Amino acid sequence: MPFAEDVKLGFNSHPKSLSAKYHYDALGSVLFEAICLLPEYYPTRAEAAILERHAVEMVDALKGPLELIELGSGSAAKTRLLIQAVLSRQARLDYHPIDISSSALDASARALERDFPGISVDGTAAEYLDGLRRVTRNGSGSLLVLFLGSNIGNFDFSEAIVTLAAINDALRPGDALLLGADLKKSKTVLEAAYDDPLGVTAAFNLNLLARINRELGGHFDLRQFSHRAVWEEQRSRVEMYLVSRLSQDVAIDALGMTAHFDAGEAIFTESSYKYDARRIAELAAATGFEVAKRWTDSLSRFSSSLLVRR
Ligand code: AVI
Repeated sequence: MPFAEDVKLGFNSHPKSLSAKYHYDALGSVLFEAICLLPEYYPTRAEAAILERHAVEMVDALKGPLELIELGSGSAAKTRLLIQAVLSRQARLDYHPIDISSSALDASARALERDFPGISVDGTAAEYLDGLRRVTRNGSGSLLVLFLGSNIGNFDFSEAIVTLAAINDALRPGDALLLGADLKKSKTVLEAAYDDPLGVTAAFNLNLLARINRELGGHFDLRQFSHRAVWEEQRSRVEMYLVSRLSQDVAIDALGMTAHFDAGEAIFTESSYKYDARRIAELAAATGFEVAKRWTDSLSRFSSSLLVRR
């Protein structure tokens, strides 16, 4: 029961923390899709603009036929641009999405199979590397692994290295990784993207506590916590927290524990690292990849890099 164990561990740590991966139950995945529609949350639109412009070039950089694996596929909305580009040069495509949310996976598989008659979707509900190990590639052509949406940003640099090295291990010469990374920018823009005035990101973050209530018999009063997002320039990351509005004790039945929160005490819930070209090159070099090409949107907010296995 990893959720229960992780919550217990996180609430017994100093400072308290909850792993960002637990944001994505069925409700959290829908809330994340809503975040992607917010005017302040630019990464989704910036990456979509890059893919709209360059998907054909990205796909044409690899020898066909192509097969796709996607880590953290979510609704796979942007992936459609790449799927379209692949299906314009081959009749059939095997697409292997991997996502921690089985509800997001099921919904996206149904929609893709309805809209693209040439596609065969074989989804795996798992964390990235576990999913990657479970996927069997079908063809003898090239494999393109998609790691879009700045999902890499939710990892510390050391975790990012472990993840990309494992992806590299799963590839053969001629295969590639398409890596989406959000770029550094002003504090104002970044903090607005992670603390929107409509409160959708706050709801996404608070859903962690709601999930503990639903799944572990928690007694959190969500109104007694507030959402906070801060840009930490030194660490090049946006940090998200849930802050206790008052001194309170919260029982969690399934864990047989009561967690105490001081007034103003923060639970660390996510880091979202922001990259620059140098850091992307360092990450690629440390994990056996070469940056074949890098694209940015017109405002240089987001970057897509095609990394080929060395
Ligand atoms: C999924 N991930 C790339 C998002 C991000 O931007 O770090 C998660 C997110 N958290 C708050 N808003 C979006």
